[in-house]
Amino acid sequence: MHLTKEEQLMLDGEKGEAKQTAMEILTALGKIYNAEKMIPVASAQIAGVSYKTIGDAGLEYLQEMVSKKAKISIPTFLNPAGMDTEQWKNLGIPEDFAKKQMAVLDAYSSMGITMSATCTPYLAGLRPGQGEHIAWAESSAVAFANSVLGARTNREGGPGALSAAITGVTPYYGLHLNENRIAKVIVKIEADLKTENDFGAMGYYIGKAVGRNYPAFTGIKADEDELKLLGAAMAASGAVPLFYAEGLTPEFKVAEDAEEISFTEKELRETKEMLDAKEKPDLVTLGCPHASISEIEYVIDLINKKGKPTVKFWICVSRAVKETAVEKGYNKIIQENNGILVADTCMVVCPLEEMGYRITGTNSGKAAKYLPNLCKQKVAFGNIEDILYREEK
Ligand code: F3S
Repeated sequence: MHLTKEEQLMLDGEKGEAKQTAMEILTALGKIYNAEKMIPVASAQIAGVSYKTIGDAGLEYLQEMVSKKAKISIPTFLNPAGMDTEQWKNLGIPEDFAKKQMAVLDAYSSMGITMSATCTPYLAGLRPGQGEHIAWAESSAVAFANSVLGARTNREGGPGALSAAITGVTPYYGLHLNENRIAKVIVKIEADLKTENDFGAMGYYIGKAVGRNYPAFTGIKADEDELKLLGAAMAASGAVPLFYAEGLTPEFKVAEDAEEISFTEKELRETKEMLDAKEKPDLVTLGCPHASISEIEYVIDLINKKGKPTVKFWICVSRAVKETAVEKGYNKIIQENNGILVADTCMVVCPLEEMGYRITGTNSGKAAKYLPNLCKQKVAFGNIEDILYREEK
């Protein structure tokens, strides 16, 4: 693998121990994937932030990097942590968990990382441009950045993303190369997608159907929030880091011999049926991926029309979006109507199962996929109106 003089100095330890460790990780990755060189990246986004997912081993690794004086060299955001750093007590997060979580965040903070713990950095001030090389880790953020923004990133693991943040480079392979960004499956949408959870359900179905292939959707009408839900679900049920949507994504590259599949009313209906336990949730969690201001406004409009939701709800957001919501007076309206804007974390990476919840409502295909296994929850899957006002079925 060709290294520049600077990269070689890092690998040789001339730039300090942390950069050496980081470069060792990156060159090892580069060799596995046959990368010919490193490519500079404009930003990093790091997974492995919730204490629930990384545990003591992850915390020790981070503290070791801190002891090696690790510092980031490019703008870097974090994935959601295991709790809202301001409201964790009110939300019922166990004290022991909170202590460990703060230690994880302290380690990242001492490396100079922006304390923005979100899976939607692109809604919180870190929005890459088309063709920009980045090193992001969170699967839904990777899908959004590659597809909707036309940036270039592989789905980095936690150590790979951190190493890129420290060195400013990543191995040049996979989705950094134009020739690899080709869809091999065309998805003809023949279903009438009416509400946001329809995009979650379609993503869940298509992610499973295409596995590691990249799908290209035709006949699709969607806004950015719906593409966000679609990409997140495909990344969760399959391993889809890139998709195209005709007329909506900046690129649309399809292989000549691409297979064609259809997504009809039948698949839509059956997927929604399968994901929904058809029970009244004891908590509704919106914002998977983290909600935009327009998604919060949608909930407020609904409350204005239908009154206070019949169930307690969270809207998970980045802290940046929460600050905007506070300025606009939305936080107060949400709080007066059974809801909380929860920042820094989400329904899947917080210890929901330890907080007394059993049935969680979601409109997200990704959350519906993970809540049963990672949080021991039954899932009430539906559109926002359905799950916020659901009665016993
Ligand atoms: Fe984000 Fe958590 Fe969903 S990280 S994409 S809100 S599972």
